[in-house]
Amino acid sequence: MMEFIEWSDDYCVGNNLIDIQHKLFFEMVKDLSNRMGSDKHDVKAKDIIQFLQDYVDMHFSAEEAIMSEVSFPDIQDHQAIHNEFSKNIQRFSDELHSDEVSHILDKVLTLTQNWFLEHILTQDKQLMKYLH
Ligand SMILES: [Fe+2]
Repeated sequence: MMEFIEWSDDYCVGNNLIDIQHKLFFEMVKDLSNRMGSDKHDVKAKDIIQFLQDYVDMHFSAEEAIMSEVSFPDIQDHQAIHNEFSKNIQRFSDELHSDEVSHILDKVLTLTQNWFLEHILTQDKQLMKYLH
């Protein structure tokens, strides 16, 4: 598992807006993993999930608009993957009423860490060659 210590320009896909938003996501994962690792779990699950809901609303539509502008060929599959992620975040939000908070936060951390590796650094990176 990669460590979320410092943002690197190697993570960039080459579009300023997307990269700034990805960096924001990175910082959120970093902050969450630091706080989960500390003794005092001063993490407000509701705030984290609210941040993620706002983030996906803002970021996925921005990214998909850019993909459509540059005629990115895999846009439909990519969009479906985005929708799946949004659904997972929504599910966590629903679970806040029933499941134990620390259990939800563990799942949020795992999901967002994997997302950074498997989506941002892998699938979003495919966009790079269409940007120039
Ligand atoms: Fe994406």
